[in-house]
Amino acid sequence: PEHISQDLKAVLLTEEEIQSKILELAAAVERDYDGMELLLVGVLKGAVMVMADFARALTRHAEMDWVAYSSYGSGTRSSGVVRILKDLDTDITGRNVLIVEDIIDTGLTLSWLVANLRSRGAASVEICTLLRKPEAAKMAVSVKYVGFDIPDEFVVGYGLDHAERYRNLRCVGTLAPHVYSD
Ligand code: PRP
Ligand code: MN
Ligand code: MG
Repeated sequence: PEHISQDLKAVLLTEEEIQSKILELAAAVERDYDGMELLLVGVLKGAVMVMADFARALTRHAEMDWVAYSSYGSGTRSSGVVRILKDLDTDITGRNVLIVEDIIDTGLTLSWLVANLRSRGAASVEICTLLRKPEAAKMAVSVKYVGFDIPDEFVVGYGLDHAERYRNLRCVGTLAPHVYSD
């Protein structure tokens, strides 16, 4: 059977690089939230892998909740229309919320999400993202924790998909041309 990694053109971040960065991010969060309660909010589905590893890299208590939304108006990326597919289970009034994301691309959906969560009376709302594409930004989002700034190329793996595939890769990479032409 074909191996999933045969579809990669290049590996941008190895499993080891990702895991060591997650340990760094977790140490920074533990320092900054010392003595404070903490609610991690993962953005489905891309953030599943980073949430699983990041939460387990913490040595302190942290609750987890999840949101899912669609930013595709009618197939286009930049409609700016955000529809909630799954809302928080938790009342976040007075809570310290840390949004956990796999990637910030244009920033459109996260800027909307931050404003939405702040309006519910959270004590604080910050963002932790494994990846960010500075060149793709259309909306300024203030991000407290960033793993890697990467070039504006389409990347998959470690939660990031192309047509729902490649999320289960342990690394992050770019796709080979044959994937697009098949
Ligand atoms: C991707 C990614 C981020 C978002 C970033 O999610 O996981 O959540 O896009 O893009 P933006 O900064 O331009 O808003 P997607 O909508 O593909 O859903 P998924 O997580 O289920 O793959
Ligand atoms: Mn996502
Ligand atoms: Mg996606």
